[in-house]
Amino acid sequence: MTRRCVCPGSYDPVTLGHADVIERAAALYDEVVVAVLHNPTKAGLFSPEERRTLLEDTVAHLGNVRVELFANRLLVDVCRDAQAEAIVKGLRGGTDFAYELPMALMNRHLTGIETVFLPGDPRFEHISSSLIKEVARFGGDVSGLVSAMVHDALVGRLQPEG
Ligand code: PNS
Repeated sequence: MTRRCVCPGSYDPVTLGHADVIERAAALYDEVVVAVLHNPTKAGLFSPEERRTLLEDTVAHLGNVRVELFANRLLVDVCRDAQAEAIVKGLRGGTDFAYELPMALMNRHLTGIETVFLPGDPRFEHISSSLIKEVARFGGDVSGLVSAMVHDALVGRLQPEG
């Protein structure tokens, strides 16, 4: 039986912290579905298709990872359709845990699916998509926090005049 997990998120855009968690999930499970869960009422910096392209580039070296887009769907339904036995998420610290715990409990309440938390690598503890966008927007250097492709996409989108 194929053991499959889902790594869900907004991924607007994917960071090296996300990439680390996905890579570690890919070592634990036979297959990983990276689910970009998009809320059409919330405008992101990148379109869902752009987020997928950036993610696909980031996970291109991992043969057992695929990226899929979903809009207006419950994560538990995505997991059921993918025949995934677990949700895998990274935790950078207590604030993440406080945010993630109710979702993990709600998801288990809905279908029984478990959430597996991986401790975030301390190298990436200060990295979030929103902080990266803020730093990049005001001209800060985000190289080393995101892939080269994400870096170029951020600079192109947020600092178009260079
Ligand atoms: O990267 P994020 O924004 O922290 O990811 C949050 C996400 C997309 C995983 C969460 O909002 C989610 O699961 N959304 C799908 C809708 C859903 O199932 N909501 C109920 C969660 S208990």
